[in-house]
Amino acid sequence: MFVRQALQERRAVRNYLPKEVETEKIEALLDCAVLAPNDRLRQPWHFYVIRGEAKERFEAIAKQFLLERFPTKPHLVAESLAVLEKTPLFIVATADIIPGDEASSEDNEYAVCCAIHSMWLAAKELGLGMVWRTRGVGLVRDERLMTFLGSPENQKVVGTLFIGYPEADVPTTTRAEAASKTTWL
Ligand SMILES: Cc1cc2nc3c(=O)[nH]c(=O)nc-3n(C[C@H](O)[C@H](O)[C@H](O)COP(=O)(O)O)c2cc1C
Repeated sequence: MFVRQALQERRAVRNYLPKEVETEKIEALLDCAVLAPNDRLRQPWHFYVIRGEAKERFEAIAKQFLLERFPTKPHLVAESLAVLEKTPLFIVATADIIPGDEASSEDNEYAVCCAIHSMWLAAKELGLGMVWRTRGVGLVRDERLMTFLGSPENQKVVGTLFIGYPEADVPTTTRAEAASKTTWL
């Protein structure tokens, strides 16, 4: 697949078939992730693969989060939990934070964003669907996630990636023309 075609066809896939993602495919995604550009080759990423029994524990902390966040909306809690249960695989991507060096820490986050995008494109090529989540059950901004991962304090969660075999084709999204977002000086 050519790069421009891959970019055009990439979609956020949120519904998956009840089928596990093979270990070799997970490894292929991670191998693509670590090819991403990164400042001074710090390779400032770490990936936490969550499946099987760990997935059940992730879902338990997500449930706590949802019950606290939406105490008066039980159907929203149930719907969100159903989304988690129907997602075969989660991968949390973190960036290394360098104490006292805000600029490099930011660059590290940008590099992880590049790595996630690489995984998103590779997922499509591998027949998988993926969405990068930062809100809600992605738990990206919830302290419980760091505790669950057992990750060091100098790692910042950049995204929780929900991955599986797509249930159906996802409708195309549209974008404003590049010209409307561009100033030629
Ligand atoms: C940084 C980032 C955070 C995102 N967070 C969420 C999220 O929390 N939940 C979600 O459903 N989609 C999330 N998305 C996916 C976007 O909603 C999706 O890319 C957008 O709707 C455009 O659809 P497309 O990717 O299929 O073109 C996120 C995407 C990015 C880049």
